[in-house]
Order: sequence, then C-alpha cells, then structure tokens
Amino acid sequence: MFKFKFTERNDTRYDSIDWKKLGFGKYFADYMFVANYKNGEWNKGEIVPYAPFMIEPSMMTLHYGQTIFEGLKAYYNINGGANLFRPNMNAKRLNNSAKKLVIPEFPEETFIEACKEVVYYNRNFIPQKRGESLYIRPVMFGSSNMLGVHPADEYMLIIFASPVANYYEEGLNPVKIKVADRYVRAVRGGLGGAKTAANYAASLYAGMEAKKDGYSQVLWLDGVHLSNIDEVGAMNIMFVIDGKLITPTLETGTILAGVTRDSVIHLAKSMGIEVQERIIAIDEILMGLEKGKLTEAFGTGTAATISPVGKLSFKGVEYILNNNQIGEISQKMYDTLLGIQYGEIEDKFNWTIKIDF
Ligand SMILES: Cc1ncc(COP(=O)(O)O)c(C=O)c1O
Repeated sequence: MFKFKFTERNDTRYDSIDWKKLGFGKYFADYMFVANYKNGEWNKGEIVPYAPFMIEPSMMTLHYGQTIFEGLKAYYNINGGANLFRPNMNAKRLNNSAKKLVIPEFPEETFIEACKEVVYYNRNFIPQKRGESLYIRPVMFGSSNMLGVHPADEYMLIIFASPVANYYEEGLNPVKIKVADRYVRAVRGGLGGAKTAANYAASLYAGMEAKKDGYSQVLWLDGVHLSNIDEVGAMNIMFVIDGKLITPTLETGTILAGVTRDSVIHLAKSMGIEVQERIIAIDEILMGLEKGKLTEAFGTGTAATISPVGKLSFKGVEYILNNNQIGEISQKMYDTLLGIQYGEIEDKFNWTIKIDF
C-alpha cells in the first residue's frame, strides 16, 4: 500500500481537538500529501506533517484564483479499518475542474493512492461516532510567483484531512433555504460545473443576506433567466414530486456533478423509484407545493450528506415542506448511504475502498 515517502512528526495535533464538539472544518489531522508540478511534470509526491507553508505575495492563485478543490470522506468501518467513499469520482472531477481552470491534470490512480495513505497515516483521527467522519480535502492551485493574467507554470496539490461532525447544526433535521431571486452563482459557459474558488466567492454575499434572514443556505436559480433550479451552496438538490425523484440535469454545465447526487440516483433506481434528471422551473416547484404534489425536497453532498429542506423562501413568501419533517425518501437515502459508508449494509455498487489498519 505504501507508495510515498513518509516524514514522521514528533508531536501530534490530536490533543488540541475538542472531540465532543467537532463541528465542521475546524480541526486538521497530523499528516498531508504534497505534490509539486514543475518543468511540465508532477513529482512523485510525499506524506509530510500538516504544517503552514511559505508563500510569496506574488503567488498567482492569490490574485487570479486558479485553484480547484475536492471533498471526500473516510468513514470508520464497524468491521475494522476505514472506508473511503468513491474516491475515483473525485479523482475524475478534480481533473474535469483542472481542464476548465487550465491546470495540469493529476494521475487518477496516484490521487486515489494518496487519499488512501492520508487516511492511513491519520487513522487516529477518524471519529467513531455515527454521522462523524474524516473529511479529506484535496486542493490544487497555481503556485508560480508572477503577475499578469495567464495560467501559472508551477502548481501544488495538497491533500489534508479534518475530523468532522455535521455540516449544518441541524444535522438530519430539516434546513431552511432561501431561493436567490437577485444574485446568480454561475452561467452557461462559465465555471459552475467546476469545483473552483470563484463559485464559492460568488456565493458569499447572497449567503450572508440569507443568513441575516434566518436561512442556512441559498438555492440558486439559472444565471440567465432566474427561472430554473440549479443547486444549493454546497449541495445538489432533489425533489419528490408525485413519488418521482427529480433533480436538475448536469447538461447545463452550471452545477457541480455531485458524488452524493450520483449515489442517490443509483440508490433510488435500485429501490424502484423513478428518477428524472432535467430542467426544473421554480414555478413547477411552487405549483407542486401549492397542489400538494411536492412531498419532499432534500440536498445531497459529501459534507451535508442528506439534508432535508423544511422551509423554502422565494420572493418573500415562505413555503413549508412536508410539515417541516424529515421525509420518507430522505430518511431512506440517509440510512442506506450511511449504512454503506460505515460498512453496515452490503456495498452492492462497490463504492467503498477499504483501508485496513
Ligand atoms: C456547489 C456544490 N454542489 C454540490 C455539492 C455536492 O457534491 P458531492 O456530493 O460530491 O459532495 C457540493 C459539495 O461539494 C458543492 O460544493
């Protein structure tokens, strides 16, 4: 299993972590993977202690935002070791984002091996409580020190890890979401389908306004007409209408191709639920709510897992979904997905990669 040079640290970050209040993204585990791209090629990469690193003020990413990232999780396996969930999907998506941002692609196999070793060396940091996990954050960016708008010629890939609990304070309890009717996140032909900093920067202002109004996330509409559903800040969105699972299509190129989205689609089909991936007008959602045909909505994401939507606000009107309760399909998806991830349910789709220790 060991492919990379390993440098051991002589201390640990373990004791500085408040394990009872992990929250999300606050604590970082002992080791990270680092690879550098120079003179037209990636070096082998190595595992080193998680630590600050020096950058120059002219480092290109700070100015021009040529940076992409990923997010995946390793789960404590109840039968021993850990399960890494679908890292091949993240390897592919990283390279799709890389193409869009003119960043050199990283070999998928090496990416998966690096994630495995990051989990292995940080094995003490994998929480054992249900709902908690070790979040893996790969980030890849232009590291040349230069000014002028053009792609960098040097890059870094860093893969580090963070023990996490729920992304939202609500956990599996329904969240309140505000539909953005004035701001847009992505447009056709833009960067919406890439996991790049610009999309998240574009979301902050609307996110702040939504928070002020008491909503935890923004539901984005398409960037041209503000009439079709795109996705939520850090999740894809799914609706149950007339018993069918309906979610925005990836074909517009404006939303992230979520790994959880893909997993839920597979699970739904295997349970005999009809799935439609298509353009969904906000009007169809409002009509579905008014006529009682829309029975559930939930977000899907690695960080957020399955996140039922209890309240949806659009143009100042608040709609209540499923009596602000967790819906039947949301609960079923949550239980099945987590069951597979923690090794409690048979992994029929071969999604998990087991890491023994
Ligand atoms: C904008 C956006 N959409 C969707 C998702 C869900 O993707 P995944 O299920 O791969 O985590 C995320 C999470 O990373 C995201 O940031």
